[in-house]
Amino acid sequence: MINPHGADALKPLLVTDTEMREQLLAEADSLPSLLLSSAAAANAVMLGGGYFTPLSGYMNLADALSVSQKMHTVDGLFWPVPVLNLATDISGIEGSRRIALRDPNVEGNPVIAVMDVEAIEEISAEQKDTMTEQVYGTLDSAHPGVAVFQEQGNFCVSGPVQVLSLSYFATDFEGTFQTAVEIRAEIASRGWNKVVAFQTRNPMHLAHEELCRMAMDRLDADGVVIHMLLGKLKAGDIPADVRDACIRKMVDVYFPENSVMVSGYGFDMLYAGPREAVLHAVFRQNMGATHLIVGRDHAGVGDYYGPFDAQAIFEQIPEGAMEIDIFKADHTAWSKKLDKVVMMSEAPDHKPEDYVFLSGTKVRELLSDGIAPPPEFSRPEVAEILMNHYQNL
Ligand code: ADX
Repeated sequence: MINPHGADALKPLLVTDTEMREQLLAEADSLPSLLLSSAAAANAVMLGGGYFTPLSGYMNLADALSVSQKMHTVDGLFWPVPVLNLATDISGIEGSRRIALRDPNVEGNPVIAVMDVEAIEEISAEQKDTMTEQVYGTLDSAHPGVAVFQEQGNFCVSGPVQVLSLSYFATDFEGTFQTAVEIRAEIASRGWNKVVAFQTRNPMHLAHEELCRMAMDRLDADGVVIHMLLGKLKAGDIPADVRDACIRKMVDVYFPENSVMVSGYGFDMLYAGPREAVLHAVFRQNMGATHLIVGRDHAGVGDYYGPFDAQAIFEQIPEGAMEIDIFKADHTAWSKKLDKVVMMSEAPDHKPEDYVFLSGTKVRELLSDGIAPPPEFSRPEVAEILMNHYQNL
């Protein structure tokens, strides 16, 4: 099986030994505590599940600046997006070497991790703007990821963590949420070697489905892991339980048995386009995928990134920095001439009017009015689930 990133073995930071976990929870009760931002809590969940192997905790300011600037930590580990715990108010933890981190996304703010504080450093406004521009490619606060990053505090609390909970993901998305450890184990038990990962934050329409099929066929892969984001999204995006239902239905009806794993991970969407695509590749390698599909405007939002910037960034990555390969997909759409979904670059004789295109806005309008998008765009079973969702809003 493919190696984890930068390590011989996965490094899940979740404490699974019951006795040790009890001990740490008891210790946490008497420690000073810090209520995390949702982004920092999501980082804890990713660290806990092994997705962020080989990191041992939250980055310090020097690593964050280095990763933002050149996609490497100070020690030379390839890593595309800073993994941070940014705090607004540090009055309760100043001077403490060991602290409890509390989960903002679960009622009662239970302890999510225990941390050895190595440093608390203040980030200047200039440093924060530099990181924002390097990671998100813009400083525009209308960008949903930039807004979330800029709203986080200016104190960088760094050091190793022992993770005690996977937040709300394991309970709210039972059967879908999996750690990298679990996915690796499942891939091994299925006997898959060549494994394609498909990143998604959407219910899957026909173009998405066909992308998975094309990648599987062309790579002669053993299977595909549809790996959906289960964390926070911007307003207007479709909730995870609805997307999960759509994807499961589509897989049940349209894919051969044992060719697809439907799975999810607990992370908030960054909308960081190219940089997020690279992060996606790193943690898909950690879960055991040999390939990641990167299509049009991967992890993008609005017009902040060019449609294939998230593919181009992989050209800048030094040889050997990652083992996972990218399956680059061109814009796919239904061809009225060929009666199937095609990659546009492979249909050079086509004109725009030869394709079925529907904007996101148009699709939402149709679904809200109880009208199914055409079957060239969406499977009827998927459209039905989405119509129910929109009509009950
Ligand atoms: S993402 O933010 O998670 O990337 P989405 O779920 O829409 O958004 O996309 C999942 C993957 O499918 C990404 O790799 C994206 O580039 C790709 N994709 C989505 N729609 C198309 C399309 N019509 N043509 C090519 N690639 C696409």
